[in-house]
Amino acid sequence: MGGLQQFSSRLAWNPLLDRLFPDGLMLKDADAHRYDRKILQSAFKKSAIEGYLDTMNPHLERGLTAWPQNKSFFFQHAVKQLLLEVAAEVFLGVEMGDEASSVNTAFVDTMLASMAVFKIPVPGTLWYRGLKGRKHLEDFVMTHIAAKRETEAQDIFSQICHATDEDGNVFSDSAVRDHIIFLLFAAHDTTTSTLCSIVYALAKHPEWQQRLREEYQSLGTASLSYDDLSKLEDTKLVFKEALRMYPPVPAIPRRTVKDMELFGYHIPKNTSVGLSPLFTHYMEEYWSNPTQFDPERFSKARAEDKKHFFQWIPFGGGAHKCLGLNFAEVQTKLFLFHLLTRYNISVKAGYEMPRSWVPLIFPADGLPVTFTPL
Ligand code: HEM
Repeated sequence: MGGLQQFSSRLAWNPLLDRLFPDGLMLKDADAHRYDRKILQSAFKKSAIEGYLDTMNPHLERGLTAWPQNKSFFFQHAVKQLLLEVAAEVFLGVEMGDEASSVNTAFVDTMLASMAVFKIPVPGTLWYRGLKGRKHLEDFVMTHIAAKRETEAQDIFSQICHATDEDGNVFSDSAVRDHIIFLLFAAHDTTTSTLCSIVYALAKHPEWQQRLREEYQSLGTASLSYDDLSKLEDTKLVFKEALRMYPPVPAIPRRTVKDMELFGYHIPKNTSVGLSPLFTHYMEEYWSNPTQFDPERFSKARAEDKKHFFQWIPFGGGAHKCLGLNFAEVQTKLFLFHLLTRYNISVKAGYEMPRSWVPLIFPADGLPVTFTPL
C-alpha cells in the first residue's frame, strides 16, 4: 500500500503542529498511520462511546443549567469552558478540581501556541507558554499512565492504554501520550465551532428550534441513552447543515510525495496542495441555494447530498477521515437535548454573526445570545 501513496498529511501538518502535537494521528503517514489508526479506533467503538455518554450526560446538563438566563452572554466563551471541563473528565478521566484546572490551562496555552507567528521560546510569548503547556500535559499523562494501565475506565486515556493490535500489543507510553494530547486538540475547537454555528442557526430559525424540541419531547425521557440518539433525525439534519455551511476546518492541507498529473496540470513532488470543504460545500452544481440554511436538503426525500461521494466533507475523507466524527455527533446531540428542553435561544433582532475564517471558523464577536427558560 505504501507505494500507492500520493499525498502526505505529515509533511503538510508538521510545520504547523509538530512541536506542540508531535506524532498525533493526523501527523502520520502510510503504514505507521494505518497501524496506529486501527488501534485507536477501538477507543471510538460503540461500547466505548456509550461509556463517554454516561460521563458527558450529567456534566453537560449541570453546566447548561448554571448558564446565565434572561440576559445576553457570550456563547462561544461559555461553551468553550464547558467543553474543556467535560474533556478533562471524558478524555483524561480527571475529576474537577485543581488538577483539572491546571491541565485545562496547559491545554489552552498549547492550543493557542499553534497560532504563534514567532516561534522563539522567550518568556511571556505565546510560543513559550505553549511549550510549557505541552510539557505540563506530558508530565500529567506520564504520571498517571501506570495507574491507567492497571484498571480499565470509561475515559479515552484509559481506552487508549488498553487498546491492542491483532497480536495483543499495546501502545508504548510515549505513543499513548502523543495520541491522547493530539485527540484533545483535534476535538476541542472543532466541536466548539460546530456548536456556535448550530446555536446561531437555531436562534435565527426558531421554527427549527421548535422542531428539535418536539423531537426531544417525543422521546419522553429526561436523559438520552445511546439508542435514543439514532432516533434524532431532525437534529441530524441540523448538524449536517451547520457543518455544510460552516465546516470548522475550512481547508485541509497536503503535500505531494511524487510527481503527478491532476486535472491536466503537472504537479511536481513536494508541492503544497489543499482541499477546501468550504468551497465544496457551496458549489452550485451540488447544492440548491447554498447560502440558505435548509437542513431538509439532507432529508431522505431530497437527498441533495448524494450526488457525489465527496460533496459533504466537514470531516475530510479517505485514510485520514476524522476519527472522532461519531463522538462529535453524540456530544452535539446531548448538548442540544439539554439546551432546547430547557431554554429558548435568541439573538438581537437583525443580528448577523461576523465570522473569522482561520485557522478554524469561529464567531468573531463571541456570539452574544440570550437563553430564556421555557
Ligand atoms: C465537528 C467536529 C469535528 C470536525 C469538523 C472535525 C474535522 C476533522 C477533519 C477535517 C479531519 C481530517 C484532517 C485531514 O485530513 O488532514 C479530522 C481528523 C481527525 N479528527 Fe476530527 N473533527 C471533529 C471532531 C473530532 C473529535 C471530537 C475528535 C476526537 C474525539 C477528532 C479526532 C480526529 C482525529 C484523531 C483525526 C485524525 C485522523 C487521521 O489522521 O487518521 N475529531 N477531523
